[in-house]
Amino acid sequence: MKALVTGGAGFIGSHIVDRLIENGLEVVIIDNMYTGQKENINPKAKFYLNDIRDEETYNIILKEKPDYIFHTAAQMSVPFSVENPKFDLDVNGNGTLNLIKASLEINLKKFIFSSTGGVIYGHLDILPTKEDVILKPLCPYGITKLLCENYLHFYMHEFGLNYTALRYGNVYGPRQANAHESGVITIFARKLLKNERCKIYEYDDQKGGMVRDYVYISDVIDANIAAMESESGVYNVGTSIGTNTLSLYNTISEITKIETGYDSLPPRKGEIRSIILDVSKAKNNFNWSPKINIQEGMEITLDYFKNLNE
Ligand SMILES: NC(=O)c1ccc[n+]([C@@H]2O[C@H](COP(=O)([O-])OP(=O)(O)OC[C@H]3O[C@@H](n4cnc5c(N)ncnc54)[C@H](O)[C@@H]3O)[C@@H](O)[C@H]2O)c1
Repeated sequence: MKALVTGGAGFIGSHIVDRLIENGLEVVIIDNMYTGQKENINPKAKFYLNDIRDEETYNIILKEKPDYIFHTAAQMSVPFSVENPKFDLDVNGNGTLNLIKASLEINLKKFIFSSTGGVIYGHLDILPTKEDVILKPLCPYGITKLLCENYLHFYMHEFGLNYTALRYGNVYGPRQANAHESGVITIFARKLLKNERCKIYEYDDQKGGMVRDYVYISDVIDANIAAMESESGVYNVGTSIGTNTLSLYNTISEITKIETGYDSLPPRKGEIRSIILDVSKAKNNFNWSPKINIQEGMEITLDYFKNLNE
């Protein structure tokens, strides 16, 4: 069995690569190192330094003929997508379409897409949310992830492409980089360990910051592996528990025993107030549910950053 992982030098992609190799699969990576890190690249994988939008990527897929494609490569910063919507559309839209078009030319068993549960829904009154509500993303990044899901649905319906789109909450854990201000746990962990003040973006009528569904990396990898055998469709991958930014800060401060304080700032454009994901569909369809609670996940993550010696 062979799998191709786009973004395999990144945070989530590199953990997928490691698990697939552990499970005995042959693995090919395509990554242009936009935010990827060379120390994340598993030496047992075959690595192509390529952009997912390139013709060369299309040709690599036809040559390698993977059984599975795990597509994690993306522009994934909300603020950057607000400033640069064309770039976001190009990487996420055209890049994904290029991979889908190549997938139709080979005997692919499954296309597993890293989507977002964090920003695809927009503002919702009822939380935790299920997958089948009306989607009104409020930032270009969420719009392009929805575009990709719609392309996948179209190519399944009309051309028989098997796919699973996994809508992750806020993923955290070892190897997360904070290149684009994503990953608040990583940002706070690094800042507190360097004795630097943190920032909390908050609404006047919602002190403590945004509420998010934080899911630990190994649970996300379990979901990707389980999705290899799932029915085609879209699934939330979170914990069904909401945590606000201030409580993250407090927990990290308690674990590290470091208190730096934080600055309170107004919310940034494109950021929704609250999102919590109902994960019962993934449980019912492919028997996945999260195993690591946030305290445990943060302790492992903090140990990792402490030992990085940055
Ligand atoms: N981390 C999260 O909390 C989170 C939440 C929801 C969804 N996601 C999705 O999961 C996926 C992976 O996120 P991550 O946190 O691992 O990010 P990451 O930045 O660590 O990894 C992305 C990888 O994709 C590569 N890449 C980017 N543009 C590329 C291009 N044009 N061609 C080839 N490679 C390219 C980067 O170099 C990097 O190695 C993304 O699709 C993201 O939208 C992540």
